[in-house]
Amino acid sequence: AEKKYILAIESSCDDTSAAILFNDKVLSNVVASQEIHEQYGGVVPELASRAHQQNIVPVVHQALAMANIDKKQLSAIAFTRGPGLLGSLLVGTSFAKSMALGLNIPLIEVNHMQAHILAHFIADENSARPNFPFLAMTISGGHTQIVLVKGYFDLEILGETLDDAVGEAFDKSAKLLGLPYPGGPLIDKYAQQGNPNAFDFPKPKVDGLNFSFSGLKTSILYFVQRETQKNDSFIKENLYDICASIQHTILEILMEKLAMAVKQTGIIQIAIGGGVAANSGIRARLKEAEENLGWKTFIPKFEYCTDNAAMIGIVGYLKYIEGDFSNQAIAAKARYAI
Ligand code: KG4
Ligand code: ZN
Repeated sequence: AEKKYILAIESSCDDTSAAILFNDKVLSNVVASQEIHEQYGGVVPELASRAHQQNIVPVVHQALAMANIDKKQLSAIAFTRGPGLLGSLLVGTSFAKSMALGLNIPLIEVNHMQAHILAHFIADENSARPNFPFLAMTISGGHTQIVLVKGYFDLEILGETLDDAVGEAFDKSAKLLGLPYPGGPLIDKYAQQGNPNAFDFPKPKVDGLNFSFSGLKTSILYFVQRETQKNDSFIKENLYDICASIQHTILEILMEKLAMAVKQTGIIQIAIGGGVAANSGIRARLKEAEENLGWKTFIPKFEYCTDNAAMIGIVGYLKYIEGDFSNQAIAAKARYAI
């Protein structure tokens, strides 16, 4: 077999990341997260782009150093072309193009959403790989999609969000409760001590396998306003129950759509990715579905769920084998279908 070292670069949102892969094995995966956005309660595109410019060189150096290889050993450079914030994508794209040109090695463009799914194929003795065909559900602060995966590069979107992503639903709900950004992990933590049926939030009526989360946010806003008018320490007194009820509603929506996708396709292998895959409730629900419905579920190591360059590297490797290279004229693409 060929022995290839691939440098991968990810800069689509607010994480600057570089990884080195040796074939399908990850030698290093460095992620510089941008704390600057916390004080704004969400990602500020212009600040993200500037932080990428500061981080990209040190992050790439560190990835090479941790993998203990020299840049002259690299076989190719893979980078996230899109989808994402244009100003952020431009930093990774320009860097990858220049470095590939300088080293005179192939350049490989990668679709970020494909990478979230193909992260399941990173060599890892602790996690099994799904077999084709399988269903992939990518749930994060930026995305919510259910995809039918028939082959590495044969993907079909079955459903996606029409408005907010599921992670956004967690974060915006948390913000309404006065919790710091990103609030998803805190809702998860408090939910574990609360009653999921304490409060009722309406589930959206969306046809097929698409999602909508903006209505939930609005109903939580009205709920909080109404209740705090009656009792201004309502949130404080009921925080655990509110969080448990919000999380319960979100999980019901996700599980309902997954069950519908299973029914529609007859496929029972489900691969989950994205930052929301860390949620303890979704993990418990998937485990239940394995026991009760015979589903087989897959969740990669957490560092390959959140935005990272290792997942870009595995796509780079798979494309390298196929000889699927890009040229120097390639441009970043903010909206880029899977
Ligand atoms: O994949 P990710 O790191 O970045 C992108 O958005 O692409 O995902 C971050 C999202 C945030 O919305 C965060 O609140 C959510 O994942 N998240 C969680 C949990 N951990 C992270 N949401 C619910 N429960 C968690 N345990
Ligand atoms: Zn992502």
